[in-house]
Amino acid sequence: MERETWGSKLGFWLAAAGSAIGLGNIWRFPYLAGSNGGAAFVFIYLLIVLTIGISVMLAEFTIGRHTNLNAVGAFQKLKGGPWQIAGWMGVVAGFVILSFYSVIGGWTIKYILSSFTGMISTSTDSTSYFLSFIANGPQTVLYHAIFMAITIFVVYRGVGKGIENTCKILMPALFLLLAILIIRAVTLPGALAGINFYLNPDFSKVTGATILAALGQAFFSLSLGMGCMITYGSYIKSKKESLPRAAATITLLDTAAAFLAGFVIFPTVFAFGATPSAGPGLTFITLPKVFALMPGGQIWSALFFLLLAVAALTSAISLLEVVVAYMIDNAKWSRQNAALIIGGAILLLGIPSALSQGAMTINIAGKSFLDFLDFISNNILLPLGGLLIALFVGWVIPEIAKKETTAHGTFGFQSVWIWICRVVAPVAIFVIFLGGLGLF
Ligand code: PFF
Repeated sequence: MERETWGSKLGFWLAAAGSAIGLGNIWRFPYLAGSNGGAAFVFIYLLIVLTIGISVMLAEFTIGRHTNLNAVGAFQKLKGGPWQIAGWMGVVAGFVILSFYSVIGGWTIKYILSSFTGMISTSTDSTSYFLSFIANGPQTVLYHAIFMAITIFVVYRGVGKGIENTCKILMPALFLLLAILIIRAVTLPGALAGINFYLNPDFSKVTGATILAALGQAFFSLSLGMGCMITYGSYIKSKKESLPRAAATITLLDTAAAFLAGFVIFPTVFAFGATPSAGPGLTFITLPKVFALMPGGQIWSALFFLLLAVAALTSAISLLEVVVAYMIDNAKWSRQNAALIIGGAILLLGIPSALSQGAMTINIAGKSFLDFLDFISNNILLPLGGLLIALFVGWVIPEIAKKETTAHGTFGFQSVWIWICRVVAPVAIFVIFLGGLGLF
């Protein structure tokens, strides 16, 4: 059977942007920026994204389009031997990340619905609302299953009919929702204090740890280091498409979405005198509190959580596709069986994550099951995968990579790119890796 491809260049761009723009952009980036020196963090993040991020993305597209294979198959075809491990780690990472990503995706669906059922009210304490929801085992598992079912459905339908068509509708919708929410947020009385907090550069807050946080965030946000962009690149039909331009466009869209999400969150939080808190709390506890004080708060809350759910879904699809593509290419499964069986297995692995947030005590190495999987994938699998991908392109297949990135025409930064892959990215990633493990 003929291998599937994207129907159009725009379809591919929107699917890849859909993968990149996710929970990482909308809840993680604004919080990280806000607590790590504001504009100073944004500046460092930009620097990293525009050098290492964009280069590793281009490396993944190159490997993908050249081989037309999934992450494991691509390494096997090009070199084999121990390099296959890079592909394997990607498939494992896709499996593991989706299992807990979908749990949080489920929370966003619950919060869209809850916006209309009493959560957004000044008499509701949003902290206890959130804590009692995540401690409700049957509910968190149910919403996780709903989120997984939608993800499976899209991947089941295929690359063009499922992933591409879904992203072609959802990505413009996402940018529209983001625009509406930004306009609402920045026109609130008192919004300026939030913008000042977000953008005031405070270089005294920049430490080694800040740079590590920015590096780790860049990888997760751009969907790099686990063969996701190899897989999406493998569905590009034409050698005439410019891979450098695709990598630049997707990197810019992802960065813009992250940066702009801060203009929704901080003005809203500051306009009502709340203080920005950490991680999931900012989104699931602070924002509902703030929406409760806003005229039309139920609608704004529903729109915001819809934005988050859409962003999460288009990323979840890409995580599942990494594993499904492997089963189709290498194990010769049908797409339908792969989507259902692999999706079902991920659903099961997600259950302990869903339950570990308060319903039961499921700890590994002193962390909840969800936090443990998050830690393993973000701090070990993704950085190590990114390191291997950069080294592979820089040292093992530089001639293939040079041809692949000029098949459409010229590529002015080619030698800069190759050297980033050879030296700059591996060294920098090695540093995040050790830092993420707390080794210095
Ligand atoms: N980039 C997604 C986000 O920012 O939420 C998460 C992600 C998707 C990571 C796909 C890795 C991946 F392969």
